[in-house]
Amino acid sequence: MERAIDPAAAVAAQPQVGVSRAHESAHLHVSGEAVYIDDIAEAQGTLHAALGLSPIAHGTLQSIDLELLRRQPGVVAVLTAADVPAENNCGPLLHDDPILADGELRYVGQPVFAVIATDRELARRAAAMAKQVIVTAPLPAVLTAREAHAIGQYVIPPMHLTRGEPASALAAAPHRLDGEWAVGGQEQFYLEGQISYALPQENQALLLHCSTQHPSEMQQLVAHAMGWQAHQVTVQCRRMGGGFGGKESQSALFACVAAIAATQLRRPVKLRVDRDDDFLVTGRRHGFDYRWSVGFDDEGRILAAEIDLISNCGHSADLSAPVMARALCHFDNAYWLPHVDMHGYCAKTNTQSNTAFRGFGGPQGALAIEMIVDGIARRLGLDALTVRQRNFYREGQDVTPYGQRVEDNQLGPLTDELIETSGYHARRAAITAFNASSPVLKKGLALTPVKFGISFNVVHLNQAGALVHVYVDGSVLVNHGGTEMGQGLNTKVAQVVAHELGVLAGAVRASATDTSKVANTSATAASTGSDLNGKAAQDAARKIKRRLMPLAARLLNCGEDELVFDGGEVRGGGRAVGFKELVGKAYLERIQLWSDGFYATPGLHWDRAKLQGKPFYYYAFGAAVAEVLVDTLTGETRVLRADVLHDVGRSLNPALDIGQVEGAFVQGQGWLTSEELVWHPQSGLLLTHAPSTYKIPTANDMPRDFRVALFDAPNAADSIHRSKAVGEPPLLLPFSVLLAIKDAVAACGPERCDPPLRAPATPEAVLDAVEAVTRKMLP
Ligand code: MTE
Ligand code: HPA
Ligand code: MOS
Repeated sequence: MERAIDPAAAVAAQPQVGVSRAHESAHLHVSGEAVYIDDIAEAQGTLHAALGLSPIAHGTLQSIDLELLRRQPGVVAVLTAADVPAENNCGPLLHDDPILADGELRYVGQPVFAVIATDRELARRAAAMAKQVIVTAPLPAVLTAREAHAIGQYVIPPMHLTRGEPASALAAAPHRLDGEWAVGGQEQFYLEGQISYALPQENQALLLHCSTQHPSEMQQLVAHAMGWQAHQVTVQCRRMGGGFGGKESQSALFACVAAIAATQLRRPVKLRVDRDDDFLVTGRRHGFDYRWSVGFDDEGRILAAEIDLISNCGHSADLSAPVMARALCHFDNAYWLPHVDMHGYCAKTNTQSNTAFRGFGGPQGALAIEMIVDGIARRLGLDALTVRQRNFYREGQDVTPYGQRVEDNQLGPLTDELIETSGYHARRAAITAFNASSPVLKKGLALTPVKFGISFNVVHLNQAGALVHVYVDGSVLVNHGGTEMGQGLNTKVAQVVAHELGVLAGAVRASATDTSKVANTSATAASTGSDLNGKAAQDAARKIKRRLMPLAARLLNCGEDELVFDGGEVRGGGRAVGFKELVGKAYLERIQLWSDGFYATPGLHWDRAKLQGKPFYYYAFGAAVAEVLVDTLTGETRVLRADVLHDVGRSLNPALDIGQVEGAFVQGQGWLTSEELVWHPQSGLLLTHAPSTYKIPTANDMPRDFRVALFDAPNAADSIHRSKAVGEPPLLLPFSVLLAIKDAVAACGPERCDPPLRAPATPEAVLDAVEAVTRKMLP
């Protein structure tokens, strides 16, 4: 029955994509009706789990006083590694991540046992006895990446990426800059903490509600831990209260514990950790240490760069390998580096295992070159913007160190437009004048660009599936492999389906992610959610449309090539039939009204050993100008104004995209200005494990004047409706805030001084930098 007519030709006159629509759950978010895992009505007999954590950073586990724990009020069972039926692992790539500690204790906070009790408070009370019941034999701990690097202790072998003749080019360069620097990690601080709720099902099976970006991985890891087949485990997630990368792999420990307990006890078991335990158990963005040497000419053009990137991975590999690969692939950021020598070291330390966080190593890679370019500009006494523009990728100088050509390069035009709209040059002059007459308060200004590669940097992950059901009343349900974490993926996918079928957006509903619907999904990550699932859903909708077309043509007495699906009806030959009516007739004619869809990103290839290939389908670009005010007596900073121009291709939903840009900007600003992680230098305890000491940005920290605009240019790559991914790239925009603070501090020192500003640029860090540059002024 299917004919070879291109269904894409039947375009809608009332587009459902490219228009701002409220998030499909916005009204539920604000009214409190949106159901998160902990809101699911508890099944009768539900038990609650809590984790007993390692009190030491490194050592051997001698014994646990299980009897004492079992005697505590409400306690039903206590699980240890010995209770894991099959594989004691929740690590995603290497199998090096125990669910519960097995002999070796690796960090303060590592789960050692799980208490299952009749209610959550009682479970937590018993679990809090960990220090008392765990007998340990401590060993020396390695707490910093530098220490680990010094003794060659890594979670995976070092990675190297070289182009050209960096050593001789560096030696021959007219100028040289050597530097060392570091940037801290960052807690995801999803508002909904890690949680899993496991319900035993008949015949050796399990239903798991899990707050996760990666239901399929949870299904597999639970099955492996249980010694089961995948079909015995169903994982569902309607939505997360944020993931930010923290639930790409690290939801697994909680999923596995809940699953093991529920199966052993034949009772539903819920594991919801509180914020302090979430901080202590799970990892976060990798902090990075850098050492670099760069050679450049009188104009500030980079001739050669050598850099070591050392990431603090914590006790296991988790996703540290692809995170480092992305850091290496983003070190170039916007710039042509003819000769380059990069080394990535994934340091193994006795801390939480670090993982994905918005940007996935990209921010840590690109921040290094932005600091370097800023340093070059200060050395030469040039405006950093000028040096940036001189180093931009351009025709003939447009191949990245990993061998991918920078196609559809928007860096030049986008930056030019932002310079214009932000009034950069006039404001630069005004700030110089302000600083000359303001001894205590100093202003700073910086423009930083972003180029961000879109695709998973592991080729096979770039695939997605979807199911579209058209019911006989003309309403549509779409299910896809992606997960909703607040980013608006379900809204965008529903828009794509509505657009394809020519129905209004309200006619389409997206349902919870469920491993029993779409199988073998990838994590919703790498910003690819709408690229992949949008295409898969479009494929499914087109198949249905293709099946409806012969019937519609017959009813309207026209050619199939004349049909237009639009606004809830199908038109052709000057007549129209309602979509609902058409679907009703199709049902009676026994035409299949539901379909699967699939998408695999074309043209990707990657040699993981050589770090060469085409890892990215396309690049997203952006730039931001930040203006800050710094109180040089207190170290306090304020972002007075931020102008952002960001490239999302042809936006699927401008309102959602602007929300993503704003959110990412402020989140990145938090990473670089206020969110500081401190581990006790002897015990290895993470001291900043609650919002009392770990400061995420609030509404008060937003730029006072925040101007976000979308750069209007369709994606040259054949992405879903020529849009571009938006989730992660704008996290790099607030590099401009850090560098503007550095600029303001530089105004306290002698000409061409280069303030040694740490990141995050907390008030303490700012004061140290001010002191360093003002001390230089003394004879
Ligand atoms: N936005 C919200 N509101 N909540 C989140 O957890 N995660 C970010 C980003 N935006 C996140 C978010 C991260 S890390 C990624 S990879 C993308 O969303 C994932 O979703 P997408 O691929 O659909 O953009
Ligand atoms: N981003 C997020 N997750 C990933 C990636 C990536 O680039 N590669 C492998 N897993
Ligand atoms: Mo995002 S860090 O790829 O989950």
